Amino acid sequence: MKKQEEREFDIINQNLLRGGMSHLESILFRDIHSRNVAYYCYKIGLAIGFQPSNCLALFMGGILHDIGKTKIPKEILSKPSRLTNEEYEIVKQHPKAGYDILRNVLGITDETILAVTLYHHERFDGKGYPFGLRGEDTPLVARIAAVADAFDAMTSNRIYQTKRELWEAVVELRKHRGLQFDPYVTDLFVDMITQREGDVDELLLMDTNSGQKQIL
Ligand SMILES: [Fe+2]
Repeated sequence: MKKQEEREFDIINQNLLRGGMSHLESILFRDIHSRNVAYYCYKIGLAIGFQPSNCLALFMGGILHDIGKTKIPKEILSKPSRLTNEEYEIVKQHPKAGYDILRNVLGITDETILAVTLYHHERFDGKGYPFGLRGEDTPLVARIAAVADAFDAMTSNRIYQTKRELWEAVVELRKHRGLQFDPYVTDLFVDMITQREGDVDELLLMDTNSGQKQIL
């Protein structure tokens, strides 16, 4: 018997996949990282007690958060070596570029989706981008997305890194608690992970190597 939120997630997925998505949306939904971020955002939203509509908006924010990368040259995004300062400055434009696409091209007005996209690289200590917002000046939904984004990045193979073990990712989250990450969201998410002691690897929604879906 599936838990209630798993059933909700299935319904969301089925509706979205059935609902005649645009070409752009179907590309985004095939992006495993975005789907994982979306799922973690959704789970954290549920754990906080957000309304279902806001959890769904968080999910969509996770799907769309990196849409601005479509404006960044592929050579930069797939560069296996360290980026130059100039290249990094270009990459840092993607949250604002994404916001502009969502707001002005696609006409999306949902505040949660827009905030996740615009602010997901802000840091709790104010050293993030694009604005250098500090602490709770960054909307909570974006602080949630920052944790979800970093966790999936750490536990996935990337062109520039081999994925970390789950426990290593937890150590990293804790290490950067209150610096990169919101302490409240970090504690909540780490609790969600560590409560599954014994079979923690099952928390990973999607193994990015095999593409195999794993159920929470
Ligand atoms: Fe991003």
